[in-house]
Amino acid sequence: MSDFMKAMAFRHACKHFDTSKTIPQEQFESILEVARMSPSSFGMEPWRLIVVRNEALRKALKSSCWGQAQITEASELVIFTTDNDDVRSGTPYVKNMFERRGLDAEALEKYMSVYKGFLSLIECHEDLLENWTAKQCYIACANMMTYAATLKIDSCPIEGFDKEQIEAVLDLPQGRSAALICAFGYRVDPQSPQIRLPISTIVEYR
Ligand SMILES: Cc1cc2nc3c(=O)[nH]c(=O)nc-3n(C[C@H](O)[C@H](O)[C@H](O)COP(=O)(O)O)c2cc1C
Repeated sequence: MSDFMKAMAFRHACKHFDTSKTIPQEQFESILEVARMSPSSFGMEPWRLIVVRNEALRKALKSSCWGQAQITEASELVIFTTDNDDVRSGTPYVKNMFERRGLDAEALEKYMSVYKGFLSLIECHEDLLENWTAKQCYIACANMMTYAATLKIDSCPIEGFDKEQIEAVLDLPQGRSAALICAFGYRVDPQSPQIRLPISTIVEYR
């Protein structure tokens, strides 16, 4: 079995973490680096990660996360937030994200125009824009969880939370929203079985 498939087999949605174990800082930083290296639509990297280590803040968040134990038990808790105003078409942020590729003026103009066209049906509605930036976070999160599994670090993705409450607790400014949470640490209980549909149900060849 490849190392990647071993990691896929190791990963599960960990419900309880061993509170006596801490992820070494260097390993945790490498998990964060995986987020940074993840792909994003048009390379906009809309994610802004908040690592919550403060116990009081963890407790405050827990009640807005269906009281889920992972929020306070995890060694590290990452909140994926997104900067939605920055990624609107024509902003200096977007211009800079294209410019950094070393494009000439004509190519830059073209990229900005294609981006504007693509985003026109998304940025017209705040919810759609939040949804689009959140999608990018899910990719980064998946990469982080699988990578963490290669280090024998457990994780749990969490979208069972009240978005507005989380944003209030974190005091996020206007234009910034909470997309997803991921807890990292070490399992207490044995791994739950990986229950999945058969490949024939989820894949068709045409
Ligand atoms: C986007 C997303 C959100 C999830 N939210 C939660 C959550 O809030 N709490 C939880 O315990 N598990 C959560 N899960 C875990 C799933 O329930 C779990 O991945 C699924 O049942 C398959 O189990 P496994 O990952 O252990 O194989 C979430 C998974 C994903 C992908």
